[in-house]
Amino acid sequence: MNILVVGGGGREHAIAAAMARSRKDPSIYAVMSKKNPGIAELCEDFLLEKETDVDKIVGFALSKNVELAVVGPEAPLAAGLADALEDAGISVASPKKKVAQLEFDKAWARNFMKNNNIAGCPVFEVFTEKDAMDAFIYELGNVAIKPSGLTGGKGVKVMGDQLPDVDAAKEYASSLLGQGSVVVEENLVGEEFTLQAFVDGRNLAFMPTVQDHKRAFENDLGPNTGGMGSYNAPGEILPFLTAGDVESSKQIMIDTVKALYKETGQKYRGTLYGQFMITKDGPKVIEFNARFGDPEAMNVLPLLETDYVDVLSAMASGTLDKLDVKFSKKATVCKYAVPAGYPDNPTKDREVVVGDIGSAILFYSSVYEKGGRVFTTGSRAVAVVGVADSIAEAEKIAQNALENLSGDLHYRSDIGTAGLIQRRIDHMKQIRGQ
Ligand code: AMP
Ligand code: GLY
Repeated sequence: MNILVVGGGGREHAIAAAMARSRKDPSIYAVMSKKNPGIAELCEDFLLEKETDVDKIVGFALSKNVELAVVGPEAPLAAGLADALEDAGISVASPKKKVAQLEFDKAWARNFMKNNNIAGCPVFEVFTEKDAMDAFIYELGNVAIKPSGLTGGKGVKVMGDQLPDVDAAKEYASSLLGQGSVVVEENLVGEEFTLQAFVDGRNLAFMPTVQDHKRAFENDLGPNTGGMGSYNAPGEILPFLTAGDVESSKQIMIDTVKALYKETGQKYRGTLYGQFMITKDGPKVIEFNARFGDPEAMNVLPLLETDYVDVLSAMASGTLDKLDVKFSKKATVCKYAVPAGYPDNPTKDREVVVGDIGSAILFYSSVYEKGGRVFTTGSRAVAVVGVADSIAEAEKIAQNALENLSGDLHYRSDIGTAGLIQRRIDHMKQIRGQ
């Protein structure tokens, strides 16, 4: 079987590695903008091309007789790559543009949730005009401001974090009006977590919940990043969540998939990513993504016991209910090594040397290979994942691996440590009034 992965980051390296473990022994092909050495090693052949160049990617897939494709990042989904591959007769385990809107148009996504009475939707309004927007910001008092379109996680600003007060919120929101509509919503207070599911249009197979760490520096300080690292607990429930929290979040995603079909006439096929805030009133949706999270894919895919190629085929053909999708009940801790100065002033083109990383799994992200050596690009460079029976053991494995990478690198030592996890638990106890 010939299969294609589009994307060249850590998430796509994890996807390719899961494909490579398949008992079906597939031939893997890849499209990436830069040569990711981890993906290159796993595939028969690859095309170095912009991941949004739909025509070139379809041409490459046809020339390699690809039967099944999966798209890692959001930008190609917004460019209609899943539609084009399917039109060319290739099965796709990623959503078409109309339903991927759930990620790339935040205004559409919020209105969709409201119109379909999906639980967990924060109070919000969408604006194209300043006066009414200012009045709503003033009325809510504590807000998050979001441009409608894709911004690589850098366009959202929240009061108390990046926005000191209502005036700053008004000013930032106004500055976005030139680019399109702006979503203003209530500032949700709680702990964030990620719930991902394989979806075949109708059925959902859920993965363990994961917590990502957006801030660049230890103790959740500094600017937001694409995600500095993430962990999950053995089983599917993070230490600060209850079984009820996870059940309610699953129901929100089930209702979302159903409503997407009702509203668009198109089935959502592929991985669906729910980013939730657990609040005193239960889970609220921060956003949906139409793909795996990066880093969250690197936590869950190594735990997948079911053959990933079978999962992909079932998503594409609508037969997920016939497959028993299982994850091993282990903890994982994933930590990214990023260039010094990331995200604001990262160093670039510095060599990364991987030493003895013990039993950790290594995923290459935004690096390139030249003459057998690996160099940074300015984005997140290399991720290491510890897998063990407890979060503490998994953390040790990941931390030890990081300490054996050399280069001009920075990482967060606190991710997955007992101290940081206890803070999450205490925070939720306080919020729940326990
Ligand atoms: P996003 O790009 O939607 O993932 O948002 C980036 C970050 O902004 C999220 O990870 C949250 O930490 C924060 N955020 C987004 N929406 C809200 C909200 N309504 N209330 C509080 N924080 C939010
Ligand atoms: N980890 C956040 C994301 O993939 O969007």
